Amino acid sequence: MGVNRQWRLARHPELNEDIGFEHFELTESPMPAPDAGEFVVQTIALGTSPAQRSYISKSLSMHDKIAVGDVMRGRGVAAVTESRNPNYSVGEIVIASTGWQDFSIQSPAQQNPNVLSIQKVVKPIDPLTMTLGILGSAGATAYFGLMDVGRLRAGDTVVVSAAAGGIGSVAGQIARIAGCRVIGIAGGPEKCQWITEALGFDDAIDYKNESIGDRLAVLCPDGVDVFFDNVGGEILDDVLARLALSARIVICGFIATDYRDDLGRGPRNYINLVRKRARMEGFFIFDYRHRFQEAEDRLRRWYDDGLLFNCEDVDDGLEKMPGTLGSLFTGGNKGIKLCRVSPDPR
Ligand SMILES: NC(=O)c1ccc[n+]([C@@H]2O[C@H](COP(=O)([O-])OP(=O)(O)OC[C@H]3O[C@@H](n4cnc5c(N)ncnc54)[C@H](OP(=O)(O)O)[C@@H]3O)[C@@H](O)[C@H]2O)c1
Repeated sequence: MGVNRQWRLARHPELNEDIGFEHFELTESPMPAPDAGEFVVQTIALGTSPAQRSYISKSLSMHDKIAVGDVMRGRGVAAVTESRNPNYSVGEIVIASTGWQDFSIQSPAQQNPNVLSIQKVVKPIDPLTMTLGILGSAGATAYFGLMDVGRLRAGDTVVVSAAAGGIGSVAGQIARIAGCRVIGIAGGPEKCQWITEALGFDDAIDYKNESIGDRLAVLCPDGVDVFFDNVGGEILDDVLARLALSARIVICGFIATDYRDDLGRGPRNYINLVRKRARMEGFFIFDYRHRFQEAEDRLRRWYDDGLLFNCEDVDDGLEKMPGTLGSLFTGGNKGIKLCRVSPDPR
């Protein structure tokens, strides 16, 4: 009888504190056994999101909290290994809230309304990690954020922040495919080179070494039509100063300001929303769950046609997971950050 390795929360991080191994404890439990209507899955790979930081934070959050001692929550792609549910057979592949563990019980009848429900992977692709990445929620977030919230049009000048990150690297590629001019903001020359040379962004701004305002003045003399913002804070403020008429600012995330209480008030340049008759709108990907298939079909077609590059950055081994998540906050990832937990059984 095997054991089930599980990462449990050891302590809540403080505001302004980096997260890492010190906040989690790797434990071993007996293999889970399903009740009637349930099934067991083995995790193949786990996704990451900066939002996972808020599951474990003590401060206010829009997510359910995880208590000390609980298994860390996370979404993964997994294979059914044992089933007492007639709708799920051994060997089937699903995407589910597996948590940071090798094996988990799935109860379709008792789904937490605050997490995405179990999804069957009807047409598995190689590598399976893509079902969490460009064809999964990262791809869908970039797609709906740009298309629905950003109302993207061919010819727009689009700026993307955290452009070498998971959602940003897909968003920039979608804008390029849609016939827009795309400028990415990323930290460091290597990431800037990657998004222009490998992903086809037209230009890049290295926010760690260059003035965003000065570079935007040169690169976008007529202003920015769509800003897809993953970062917030000063980067948002700098782009607000350079809007085109009727600009759309898509608030996807705010990794620069979340989990911090040492920042000033802002943004100062919001007055430009009035001058430029611009619209700034946040969105939450859960609201698009009924349309995920639309995004997947479109992204899959672009991938099959060689237009969309699979930009994933995969660690190996469940034991790496705290570092895998922590790397998002230190800029350690290039593309969609994932962790492979067990071999693809197919
Ligand atoms: N609205 C929604 O429904 C939804 C859904 C999922 C995710 N999100 C949000 O979308 C954003 C992107 O998520 P993701 O999973 O793709 O993560 P990600 O962009 O891969 O996040 C990590 C990247 O963010 C950048 N970063 C970290 N701290 C920063 C700081 N202080 N200032 C500037 N850049 C910083 C780093 O890139 P550099 O090296 O370039 O600094 C890092 O590589 C996050 O804000 C996330 O919370 C929103």
